[in-house]
Amino acid sequence: MTEFLSTASAPGKAILLGEHAVVYGKPAIAIPVSQLRVEATIEAFRCPDNEIWIDSPTIRLYKNIKDLPYEHPLREVVEMTLAECKNRSFPGLMIRINSSLPIGGGMGSGAAVSCAVIRALSKCIDGQPLATETINRLTFEVEKIYHGNPSGVDNTVITYEQPIYFRRNTPLVKIKIGKTIHLVIADTGINSATSLMVSGVRKRFDQNKEIYQQKFDAIAKLVDEAREAIESGNIQLLAETMNENHRLLQEIEVSSFALDRLVKTARSAGALAAKLIGAGGGGNMIALCTGETAKSVSQALNAAGAVRVFSFTLTGEQTEE
Ligand code: PMV
Repeated sequence: MTEFLSTASAPGKAILLGEHAVVYGKPAIAIPVSQLRVEATIEAFRCPDNEIWIDSPTIRLYKNIKDLPYEHPLREVVEMTLAECKNRSFPGLMIRINSSLPIGGGMGSGAAVSCAVIRALSKCIDGQPLATETINRLTFEVEKIYHGNPSGVDNTVITYEQPIYFRRNTPLVKIKIGKTIHLVIADTGINSATSLMVSGVRKRFDQNKEIYQQKFDAIAKLVDEAREAIESGNIQLLAETMNENHRLLQEIEVSSFALDRLVKTARSAGALAAKLIGAGGGGNMIALCTGETAKSVSQALNAAGAVRVFSFTLTGEQTEE
């Protein structure tokens, strides 16, 4: 019989405003998407002591950790976790990873996998998970393998599972939700590598520093306005900032035909705002709706060919400690 030793999960995330500019030290607002999660389960496994296998059907991986390349993110995440644990020896283990998050879709699947694995494995080996700060730091280290130069927003929102106002190298600020926010996320179904999107922006930034700096400053201003809007429950102002943020993301060339099409569809169907989320190039977009329009916007996005449409609300309760 399978012996389950521990289990832990981590949510997906969406960047409401500020992606890409956040890499250049500007603020961003990110929210957890708690309904879509990665779950890591640790089981006793018939392999030698101190060895760990990993089973991740989503990426068709079934292997002993020591047979993965040294720089493989899952090998790194396991080895970094073991180095932080107090106990040094353990029986043979299997880590099973299950995810309802799209991979390469701008919803933080990589960070959620790392976070869930660190939590479950440390809980199994030491009897309690590592401190949240340590989990956040380790998840960030693994993000560097996926992305090269991550801002840290993904690991932070996913580890703390709170809406946050985030700025690189500064303590996170939790955001209070003044009034329920109705959101719909739709997937273009097109995979896009964050590292490529981020390096593309870097190349264009290096060629047009002054212009790109102005655009990042404009995004930062929108993020600050949006934070006020969220906290005071001014949904109309939030909508204006999100629409303008999408326009600026188009200008820095991270949107795509498929994203723009879904953004347009959502707005025509009554969304107050719509924008791409995450690195862009493909992946997901988000629509800001009202309780009345969320359903029709979802239907329109489905009819326009989105591969997955998902609606949810952000309420004040989610910001409680
Ligand atoms: O596409 P995602 O979920 O990996 O989001 C990346 C967000 C960026 O701002 C584009 C990069 C970063 O490190 O913040």
